[in-house]
Amino acid sequence: MAILTRTKEELASALAGLQGSTALVMTMGALHDGHMSLVRAAREKADNVVVSIYVNPLQFGPNEDFDAYPRTLDADMALLDTVGVEVVFAPTDEAIYPRQPLVRIDPGPIATLYEGTTRPTHFAGVLQIVHKVMNLVRPQYAFFGQKDAQQLALIRTMVADLDMPVEICAVPIKRDIDGLALSSRNSYLSETERIEALALSQALNLGRDQARAGGSPQQVSDVARGYLEQAAGVRLDYLSLVNPDTFEEITGDERPERALLVCAAWVGPTRLIDNMEVEFHG
Ligand code: PAF
Repeated sequence: MAILTRTKEELASALAGLQGSTALVMTMGALHDGHMSLVRAAREKADNVVVSIYVNPLQFGPNEDFDAYPRTLDADMALLDTVGVEVVFAPTDEAIYPRQPLVRIDPGPIATLYEGTTRPTHFAGVLQIVHKVMNLVRPQYAFFGQKDAQQLALIRTMVADLDMPVEICAVPIKRDIDGLALSSRNSYLSETERIEALALSQALNLGRDQARAGGSPQQVSDVARGYLEQAAGVRLDYLSLVNPDTFEEITGDERPERALLVCAAWVGPTRLIDNMEVEFHG
């Protein structure tokens, strides 16, 4: 059974009892198999696994789903026990932010693109909590999902630019059998919306196939965007082919070594994101 800690002091005393290496998996709870794949990867890598569960208010905009975000601590603890983790850190708001933090992390230009256009304060809030929890846990490894690809790029950039002593490990996206990327926000979808939401992964698959068939970067994003633009029940936010480190857009005919097709769309009132690696040959 994991030790459940709710304050920094409880966390510190639980960590003091651990020996060997530690891997951190940060979550906002409402755990699903996507999170559990991070936990399993962490379990393989390190002697100890610490999971944080915290719905971080700083990363939600004023009209976003902070209040509605699912909070399911008992079910999360039960799920974590199926894999076995040493410590869960599920702090209260007072424990994490005893006052509004005055010193903030400026996430820089990557945070102004794509997710940052629709959610301008999101990544500053994410990096604030990631930096704090890493300072509290001091893990050798920290695991993040490829699903939040722009978040992953920003965390890697922060760790490099601030010389944080942690190795960032990325874990591939988990998908349902029909292709929908697992997300806690999928629980907001009605039955019809759940089917309409498949358009995101279908569009990305089309783009990936276009590249495999010899298509240029421009053709890849055009075909995928075209599909999502006409998909029933879906309102496109963005779809682009980007460099996975810088999130700079890749256009034209020149084939890059590494590329990621990223998209976001509303399905009903729910905003979903997805992405897929695209390989160009020749
Ligand atoms: O990816 C998430 O669930 C969150 O952004 C994270 C990394 C746990 C920070 O709150």
